Amino acid sequence: MELDHIGVAVRDLGRAEEAWARVAPGEGSPETVGNDGVRVLFCPFEGGAVELLEPSREESPVGRFLERRGEGLHHVAFRVPDIRAALQEMVRTGVELIDREPRPGAHGTLVAFLHPKAFAGVLVELVEHPGDQ
Ligand code: CO
Repeated sequence: MELDHIGVAVRDLGRAEEAWARVAPGEGSPETVGNDGVRVLFCPFEGGAVELLEPSREESPVGRFLERRGEGLHHVAFRVPDIRAALQEMVRTGVELIDREPRPGAHGTLVAFLHPKAFAGVLVELVEHPGDQ
């Protein structure tokens, strides 16, 4: 699979953007995604991107992550042509899913998360881009 992006949980999107600009400058403006209580900014680099994730409220998945573990690597995302088929294949090979059904991600994508215990403690996200299928 192709790397899509690496998700990084941050407390302050503006400050994180400044820091990451040294290696991967941010593109466009931050986007609020779905009902997840998170603002994201993509910082592309050759072959992938860093996705900066700032919680817009404490009681959100990224807010709770920051409270427990502080800033840092949150997830790794892979690009798939057909996310529903990819999820079925994960189930077939015994991977526990967090999302049984894909949901809207940033930039019109469909995304689904897989349980970290299936990947040595790393939260994995699958991403289908519009027009890929
Ligand atoms: Co992501």
